[in-house]
Amino acid sequence: MAQPRHFLTLMDLEPAELNAVLDRAIELKAIQARGESEELFKNKVLGMIFEKSSTRTRVSFEAGMAQMGGHALFLSPRDTQLGRGEPIEDSARVLSRMVDIVMIRTFEHANVERFAEYSKVPVINALTDDFHPCQLLADMQTFLEHRGPIQGKTVAWVGDGNNMCQSYINAAQQWDFELRIACPEGFEPRQDLLDAARDRVSIFRTPEEAVKDSDLVVTDTWASMGQEDEKKLREQAFAGYQVDAELMSHAHDRALFMHCLPAYRGKEISAELLDSPESVVWEEAENRLHAQKALVEFLFNHSR
Ligand code: CP
Ligand code: NVA
Repeated sequence: MAQPRHFLTLMDLEPAELNAVLDRAIELKAIQARGESEELFKNKVLGMIFEKSSTRTRVSFEAGMAQMGGHALFLSPRDTQLGRGEPIEDSARVLSRMVDIVMIRTFEHANVERFAEYSKVPVINALTDDFHPCQLLADMQTFLEHRGPIQGKTVAWVGDGNNMCQSYINAAQQWDFELRIACPEGFEPRQDLLDAARDRVSIFRTPEEAVKDSDLVVTDTWASMGQEDEKKLREQAFAGYQVDAELMSHAHDRALFMHCLPAYRGKEISAELLDSPESVVWEEAENRLHAQKALVEFLFNHSR
C-alpha cells in the first residue's frame, strides 16, 4: 500500500519539490486575488491538533481548507482524549482513519514523528520545540516574490537558536544560501544541525557581524512558547540583540526584514521596525495561507 508523505521538517521534501510548492503557492495566491475558487479539496478534512497557542497557523490552515472546498477540525488537548493521556500512537491510528490529513503543533518534536509513524494520512508539523517548517515556506515564498531566488544570497538570523532558527538551517541547505547566526553563548541551535550544514551556516557573537552585507535579516521572540518562566533571564541574555534601523543599516541596501510573528516591540525588534519599508512581515504572514494550501495539495498528490 502507498505510504503517505509527511512534512515534519523541510528535509522531507526534495529542493525541487519545495520550489514546486512555492511556485504553486504564488499561483494559488493569484487565483484567489482574481476571486476564483477551484474546490480542489472538496470533501477533504484536515485535523488540526494544537497543544500550543496560535493565531496565524490556525487561521491560515482553517481558512485555506475552506477556500479549497474542504474542512478543518480544531482539536485541543483540553477537550480531546489526547489531553487525558490517550497514547499518541492510538490517536494517530484513529484520527487517520477519519480525516485526510493532520496538522500538529506541539512541544517535543518526537511526538510528531511518533504520530506520523502510525498515521495512514500525511502529517504536517505546524511547530514543535525544534522546527517550524510551514513558516519557512511562507518566508521563502515572500523572498522569492520580492527579490527572486534566494540561492546564493546571505541571510542573517539574529537572536535565539530556536525552532525558527533551526528551520532556517534546514532552509539554507535546501535552498542553498549562506546563513549567518548571531546569538549569545548558550543559545545556539542544535550542534548536529550546525554540523550537517557546516558549509553554509556560521555563528557570530555580535549582530553587526552577522547582518553585514546580508540580503535578508530575520529574528523571532527571545522566549518561545514553553519558555515563559525564562523570560526575564532571556531578556538579560539577549540585551544588545534587538533588530532596529541602525542594525539594518549594516545589511545590503535592498535587504528585507522578516519575523514570523507574534513580535514583541521594544524587545527583539524596535518599535518602528515592523512598519519600516524593508519589513515584509505582513505579507510573510499572509503567505502562510497560500504556501500551506500548496503544501496540502502536494501531500494529497504525492505518496511513497
Ligand atoms: N508565526 C506563527 O506560527 O504564528 P502563530 O503562533 O500565531 O500560529
Ligand atoms: N519561536 C516561537 C515561534 C512562534 C510562532 C515559538 O516557538 O513560540
